[in-house]
Amino acid sequence: MIDRIVQTAAEPTDPVEVELEVTLRPHDFKSYIGQERLKQNLQLAIHAAKKRDEPMDHVLLYGPPGLGKTTMASVIAHEMGAQIRITSGPAIERAGDLASLLTNLQDGDILFIDEIHRLNRTVEEVLYSAMEDFKLDIMLGKGPSARSLRLDLPKFTIIGATTRAGALAGPLRDRFGHIHRLEFYKPDEVQQIIERAAGILDVKIDKGAAAELATRARLTPRIANRLLKRVRDYADVNGDGIIDTVISSQALQLLEIDELGLDPADRMLLAAIIDSYNGGPVGVETLAALTAEERTTIEDFIEPYLMQIGLLERTPRGRRVTPKTYKHLGKTMPANQNLL
Ligand code: ADE
Repeated sequence: MIDRIVQTAAEPTDPVEVELEVTLRPHDFKSYIGQERLKQNLQLAIHAAKKRDEPMDHVLLYGPPGLGKTTMASVIAHEMGAQIRITSGPAIERAGDLASLLTNLQDGDILFIDEIHRLNRTVEEVLYSAMEDFKLDIMLGKGPSARSLRLDLPKFTIIGATTRAGALAGPLRDRFGHIHRLEFYKPDEVQQIIERAAGILDVKIDKGAAAELATRARLTPRIANRLLKRVRDYADVNGDGIIDTVISSQALQLLEIDELGLDPADRMLLAAIIDSYNGGPVGVETLAALTAEERTTIEDFIEPYLMQIGLLERTPRGRRVTPKTYKHLGKTMPANQNLL
């Protein structure tokens, strides 16, 4: 995957970025900005579970990357007063790995499984009964002498996160009592997140500049915080460290991020749909070839934002651009183009 400032991987792996996220991560609902409906639902569920003195039902969080699924999981743990263990689908390779994770939990613990759609089938099947009745079925030995063993597990809560709820096997999805989608943030929420981060990082930024960064951060906190750091670098080198609208505009221009948060690769993709495919519809495989990205990267990481802001539409025959795309790229829409 091409390294792009406006693009979010499933979870950051760069240690600097991981540290930034951890530093800026809100710990409770009060300091978590946005996702109001989700917070209300979770607060209710937590309150009820605490009142009954039980662990919470399993929670599935899905939605585009960078919107705070991991953060929300740690907030839930904090609010429940529970310990959280963090792992991911690809990290649990064998049923034995899962068994060791589960048997080491204590009553009330939370196990966060990121990218849960990437669990393999065998592991997934062990997880079913573990989630359903807190039992672990393990096979001892092989062949005719193989025997199965049932172990009691502590009463834990799984919080699963995925960018693609559709990729989850039905039986696994059914075992989550709470299934919630994280939405893109509103620009004013992103602005508040930037102002909060600036406060924590001791960066001086004025309201206008925070608002400008917010409009270009693809409605995504992870990108907002990343942009803030890059613009701070620019302000330190080219000014006195204070970020005002002049500095932020110059820095964003240097980063080639436009008013909608698009970078050159997004613009290239949209322009190619217009120039080579008359605005679409065009199949996702063609988009993958145009951008040299995997199909899933296009579907999970690139398209959601472009669709959210109305520059791209999914139709049964493929993807197509909209009149807004022509306008944004300064291209004339052909008279025979029957969009919308
Ligand atoms: N940092 C990243 N996401 C955040 C959020 N939703 N609220 C507050 N700070 C954040």
